[in-house]
Amino acid sequence: MRALPRAAGAFAAGGCGVKPMPSSMANEVMSGRNIAVGPIILLGAPGAGKGTQAKLVAEHYGIPHISTGDILRDNVSRGTQLGKQAKAVMERGELVPDDLVNSMVVDRLGQPDSRRGFILDGFPRTVAQAEWLDGELNGRQGRPPIVISVGVRYNQLLQRLTGRRSCPVDGKIYNIYFQPPQKEGVCDLCGTALVQRKDDKEEVISERLRSYQRQTVPLVDYYRQQGRLLGVNGELPVEQVMAEIFRAIEGGATAAGTND
Ligand code: AP5
Ligand code: MG
Repeated sequence: MRALPRAAGAFAAGGCGVKPMPSSMANEVMSGRNIAVGPIILLGAPGAGKGTQAKLVAEHYGIPHISTGDILRDNVSRGTQLGKQAKAVMERGELVPDDLVNSMVVDRLGQPDSRRGFILDGFPRTVAQAEWLDGELNGRQGRPPIVISVGVRYNQLLQRLTGRRSCPVDGKIYNIYFQPPQKEGVCDLCGTALVQRKDDKEEVISERLRSYQRQTVPLVDYYRQQGRLLGVNGELPVEQVMAEIFRAIEGGATAAGTND
């Protein structure tokens, strides 16, 4: 594999100056569906496990999983106007313009299932998007967001991205190295043939990681300065990362609120 740009530390954002989770949060994880969780933002590099974890959070708390990447890919595959505008940008591994993504998000947040809370996966990923989101959430006068940064080091990200496969029907995510399906190449849940994302090619991965470094890493500081940032170690097994995230969510409402 061609050498990709190295930016030590930045990818493992969970470990770079993020507020550690207080021990008071290490209480028992409660059953989630009766908790008013409010907005949750998952920050992390491409391949950090945002999609894997967001699905588990959404299921546990009964809230919608809002992935801007999934919404964009759906638009690309349906050939909508938005999809046509986004396709080439995504295939280069660059970010889609803020105004397009923001208007997609505002539409989704306006749906009734988002009232009790929601988890954002892949949004915001520029400071301009974060500022726009702050304005939106302030206007709704709900809870402030809990921001969870999932830290994974660079070499691990590469293996995760090149090994990722997913089910085109139910969206379940696998990895040929770390979470292989029971039967090679097919989804455990529905038996459909697994696919590889177009942007998981080596040269596109390289640009995605550069975009992340340049445009998204500044959000770690942005949210840390607001006192909202909680870090989890994304290199643990999926279930352990999940348990850390549940604890962050259930203690995080207080942590976020103290700095308002
Ligand atoms: P998006 O779809 O958001 O992609 P991404 O941020 O690059 O993140 P990924 O989906 O690649 O990784 P992930 O963190 O979800 O990891 P996953 O759980 O799959 O965005 C795609 C594109 O859309 C962007 O490049 C951009 O063009 C555009 N876009 C999207 N949002 C935008 C925005 N807000 N603004 C502008 N443009 C936007 O896991 C990865 C692999 O690791 C899997 O194989 C999984 O099985 C494995 N894995 C997960 N957890 C673990 C674990 N704990 N241990 C071992 N393996 C694990
Ligand atoms: Mg994803």
